[in-house]
Amino acid sequence: MEWLRTMWLPVSQGSDFAKEIDGLFMDIFWLSMFFFVGIVAAMIYFAWRYRFKPGRVTPHQTHNTTLEVVWTVIPTLIILVLFFVGVISYMKFAVAPGEAMEIQITGKQWLWTFEYPDGTRSVNEMHVPVNKNVRLVMTSEDVLHDFYVPDMRIKRDLIPGRYTQIWFRSNNSAIGEHVATCAEYCGKGHSDMHAKLLVDSQADFDKWMATGGTEWEDYKGHMWDWGKIQWDRKGCSTCHTLDGTSSKGPTWKGIWGTMVTLSDGKTVLVDEAYVRESMMLPQAKIVKGFDPVMPTFQGLLRENEIQGLVALIKSLQ
Ligand code: CUA
Repeated sequence: MEWLRTMWLPVSQGSDFAKEIDGLFMDIFWLSMFFFVGIVAAMIYFAWRYRFKPGRVTPHQTHNTTLEVVWTVIPTLIILVLFFVGVISYMKFAVAPGEAMEIQITGKQWLWTFEYPDGTRSVNEMHVPVNKNVRLVMTSEDVLHDFYVPDMRIKRDLIPGRYTQIWFRSNNSAIGEHVATCAEYCGKGHSDMHAKLLVDSQADFDKWMATGGTEWEDYKGHMWDWGKIQWDRKGCSTCHTLDGTSSKGPTWKGIWGTMVTLSDGKTVLVDEAYVRESMMLPQAKIVKGFDPVMPTFQGLLRENEIQGLVALIKSLQ
């Protein structure tokens, strides 16, 4: 019945929970099917059996104690069983085991930041080691968001001013890339608010933690390409276009070396200092006609990534 399960549940069962949750879902599905078919069949039979015939009179009905006790007690027992199975699963799902690795997740309009125990931070890209318990401690900087990874069957709200948590353990079938997305409408960029979850082997995970990646070295000499990758990965692309069209933020095309007008009427030259300041202190100078919605990237961009972004903007003259 795998085809039936995959009709409404994700094909990948990347975490230990997935099989349990899917199993419970399918059990409830079959139970519902059993009663649906039984009730509809009885309904059709009775409609036919007691259809109108001239001269047929309905006899006087009193109650039937046995029947009433049976149809009360059996459904009550079924519901109690479902309740306890559900509660037991929920308890496992809600409370992380003590030895879990902790990742702090912050949601903000409209990106995800991940912070690891050693201080490593990443944007819109989360790495976890396979077969390890991972506890996610989450909060929001602005409005309600909801961290949802369908392949792991985990989903929980991020609430401003409060910490929520959830945990999972990926299994060997999960090595590779998965989608994490926001599942709570949080404004105009909601549908762009997704991240990559990468389940790595322990060796790959350790390497990623140690270096933050050495990928950028491949782009020495054409740093604008590295910048373009960051534009996409770090979420810049959510608000800044490269082709001149206006989005939630100013386009990057053709701005380098020009004077732009700010919301307070002053003008500023788009140079390295201004671009850098706009990444770290985005509220300092707001371009006229745009809302002050950009989050700070302080601590989220490595030096080579900033250089890449600057090179990209420069290349779009
Ligand atoms: Cu964040 Cu929707």
